[in-house]
Amino acid sequence: MYNHTNLDEIDLSVQPPAEEPARQYYFIAKLRQIVSEKSAAAGRQLTSCIHTFGCQMNARDSEKLRGILELAGYVNTDSEDADFVLYNTCTVRENANQKVYGHLGYLSGLKKKHPDKMIALCGCMMQEPEVAERIRKNYRFVDLVFGTHNIYKFAELLTEAFSSGKMVMDLWEDTDKIVEDLPAERTYPFKSGVNIMFGCNNFCSYCIVPYVRGRERSRKPEDIIAEIEGLVADGVVEVMLLGQNVNSYGKNLEKPITFAQLLRRVEQIEGLERIRFMTSHPKDLSDELIQVMKGSKKICRHLHLPLQSGSTAILKKMNRRYTKEQYLALAEKLRREIPDLSLTTDIIVGFPGETEEDFQETLDVVRKVRYDSAFTFIYSKRTGTPAAVMENQVPEEIVKDRFNRLLALVQEIAQEMSRRVEGQTLPVLVESVNEQDSALVTGRLSNNLLVHFPGDENLIGKIVNVYLKECRGFYYLGERR
Ligand code: SAH
Ligand code: SF4
Ligand code: F3S
Repeated sequence: MYNHTNLDEIDLSVQPPAEEPARQYYFIAKLRQIVSEKSAAAGRQLTSCIHTFGCQMNARDSEKLRGILELAGYVNTDSEDADFVLYNTCTVRENANQKVYGHLGYLSGLKKKHPDKMIALCGCMMQEPEVAERIRKNYRFVDLVFGTHNIYKFAELLTEAFSSGKMVMDLWEDTDKIVEDLPAERTYPFKSGVNIMFGCNNFCSYCIVPYVRGRERSRKPEDIIAEIEGLVADGVVEVMLLGQNVNSYGKNLEKPITFAQLLRRVEQIEGLERIRFMTSHPKDLSDELIQVMKGSKKICRHLHLPLQSGSTAILKKMNRRYTKEQYLALAEKLRREIPDLSLTTDIIVGFPGETEEDFQETLDVVRKVRYDSAFTFIYSKRTGTPAAVMENQVPEEIVKDRFNRLLALVQEIAQEMSRRVEGQTLPVLVESVNEQDSALVTGRLSNNLLVHFPGDENLIGKIVNVYLKECRGFYYLGERR
């Protein structure tokens, strides 16, 4: 790993190397020089703040960006008063988008008071040409804009923003490149996300992700294993393997390998205790994967299996490539093969053309599968996607009413399902001291439910057995056993 590259040994008087990641380490060293000069002038250390919107992919990207900033000498803070503020944006639904514009207004005020403040934007929203144009025209105070394909170039781009004094905007339409061995600064010392693939080829008709994240690219299994081994050596006990559709992992590699085979290899890593993954597309979930999960000691008893809609007609229009019956058969098989598995899902209400009958089909699937938990979303029109121009967009009042009915059902069932393990003693990975009561710690069961129990901060990052005394809706109160 390059993580331990000695930045002092990099000669900044010569031209930067062309190859990666060496080139980026050169610019990190350069950035460190700039930051140290500015710190000396200010008489204090410079601070940086990254604000992350969106999914686990973005969260992991932010850890990489933070890793670069920390190597460059910035002190990380949560406050937007920082000397450098970076928004890592999401555009999956319109409200994610609006939040960013709202925050930008606030930042512009801060920058008026502190003209030296540097402001940068990156992530999925920036990949939309209209957004980039709007930023270029109306948000002149932003110093740096980059996208999802070139985040590895962050140190180089920020150096350029410092030296040019003008807005630097670097946006790529797509890439086939994966740059390995850059630093990352984890949010949790004991668990980490690990990208196994980037992009998405599915083009669900409502979804903007394939347009802003580009085509599917898998990392080589050796690189993934080496990264996890490095993380484990650094104290990580749980990894979350990340991809928009992990079930299609490895198909386009020079030496193709299935996701289930990758999991078998990850399982072998000594010292690693827990494996999670996100997200599984129902159309590609193989029997091999179910068998690997069933036989595994490390893969957590949790599967996120987005349904989106229970109506076969709507699923077809969504381009999901499975029917209601196929989904139900898969869920049934999973429940039968792995009875203690927690099944969770994503559901969209109000997709164009959705009728009350279609919606009833969704409720029917929810009743049959009995999800342990579900994220419910109101359909949001994304410009450029096929669904945005479909006829029969559903009126807002109808969508809201359906959303409320779905949420009530989902919550009622989730409460019943959560109670399933009451009275059992199960392993819990302790994540933090409880926010409300410092005599308690909070941890996670293999099935992803939270448990609060008496303990102190020395337990953080450890897996301990906890008696699940009382289920309180969606979480447990317990005692160590
Ligand atoms: N790759 C993952 C999901 C990524 S987006 C998968 O296929 O499951 C996360 C969730 O956001 C999706 O599962 C979907 O339920 C929701 N979503 C995506 N686009 C949306 C839109 N235009 N409106 C509302 N919800 C949307
Ligand atoms: Fe979007 Fe579908 Fe790809 Fe998921 S699988 S990211 S919902 S296009
Ligand atoms: Fe949002 Fe991009 Fe994730 S659009 S949901 S941050 S892949």
